[in-house]
Amino acid sequence: MLNGKRILLIIAGGIAAYKCLELIRRLKERGATVRCILTKSGAEFVTPLSVAALSEHKVYQDLFSLTDESEIGHIRLSREADLLVVAPATANILAKMAHGIADDLATTCLMATDKPVMMAPAMNGRMWSHEANQENIQRLESRGIIRIGPNTGEMAERGEAGVGRLAEPMEILVEIENFFRFANRLNGKHVLVTSGPTYEPIDPVRFIANRSSGKQGHAIARALHRMGAATTLVSGPSAEPDPFGVNVIHVETAQQMFDACKSALPADVAVCAAAVADWRIKQPAAGKIKKNAKNKPPQLVLAENPDILAQLSKPGGQRPLLVVGFAAETENVIEQARMKRERKQCDWIVANDVSEANGGAFGTDDNAVHLITADHEDSWPRSSKVSVANKLALCIADHLDAAS
Ligand code: PMT
Repeated sequence: MLNGKRILLIIAGGIAAYKCLELIRRLKERGATVRCILTKSGAEFVTPLSVAALSEHKVYQDLFSLTDESEIGHIRLSREADLLVVAPATANILAKMAHGIADDLATTCLMATDKPVMMAPAMNGRMWSHEANQENIQRLESRGIIRIGPNTGEMAERGEAGVGRLAEPMEILVEIENFFRFANRLNGKHVLVTSGPTYEPIDPVRFIANRSSGKQGHAIARALHRMGAATTLVSGPSAEPDPFGVNVIHVETAQQMFDACKSALPADVAVCAAAVADWRIKQPAAGKIKKNAKNKPPQLVLAENPDILAQLSKPGGQRPLLVVGFAAETENVIEQARMKRERKQCDWIVANDVSEANGGAFGTDDNAVHLITADHEDSWPRSSKVSVANKLALCIADHLDAAS
């Protein structure tokens, strides 16, 4: 899988640094060339000798080493790689990356690179959830840095558990392999993704909405962009950061989402993951509806919203080559989704069981889905929404390859 790929692994100072030795071994087994930078604190946890022995390369540690700089300058070191991986990424190195501090070889390479960067954070649970760290993570992700983990479990500190464990070497490896598997497969394609809820105003301060967070739709946009597609994301209100490199159009209502989707055409593929309100208030009040003792509760008269998925799926005109809908169901999930696919005339439908009894799908970090096409059905076990997105993006790329 990784034959000929050049990885620059930056090992920072955390107790989990020992796991990098296993990661280097696995990367080498798969044919990658691995060069390593060991930070000063990284060297407190693993020795340069073991890193050099496993990577079969010199280990780089010092920004001001005359021999290293004359052999391969730090700019070349960071640019000759196909991918930079920071593991373990401590709170300290993440903060430096987020704020552009370049005070050692590792951070200087991270600033000087023009290559994609992955980070696998590892730290104490309290440090992980600290606002400063969370802001740094958001900032880095919004720049396109790919995050792996951290996992949940026991911490190095006796008796402490939580989020902050370094992802396992095999998990990091799979992400690295996926990265190369994905790269450039959708070059030259334009994909349109809808995500999040819609807000339908009742009056200037109240609205009807649903519990969609945008996590699934945004992950799909990110996965498709990473495969090289020019990606337009039409998003309802969501706390998710705009995916890096994606053209994001922010909307509130179903009508605005519909208009934005139409104006984004033509597209090769459309994926409708948004939870669009089926109805809106026929005539939202111009001013805030007052509540007083004499008033009866207002009667809300609803009107039907445009069905974006059905409209995009209409044959002829600018219909995308592949239209994928989602179906949020609480019972007879597969059967209902099959009928929805036929009714709305989309090519594929991704059905998710949104009932709480099954773990739900709205707002969660993971999802269990069924992919339903005209001639086959496939059930994917519950996994992270990022994995669902990656898998769907791969199916889309395979389908376009087969169709061309
Ligand atoms: O955002 P998250 O918190 O991550 O949750 C993800 C999700 C549960 C919202 C997502 O996985 C999902 O199921 N999205 C579709 C939700 C939905 O509205 O399902 P539906 O069965 O009501 O609609 C079927 C399809 O028609 C969907 O593709 C929807 O985008 C589309 N639709 C619906 C109504 C409408 N007026 N226009 C549409 O395009």
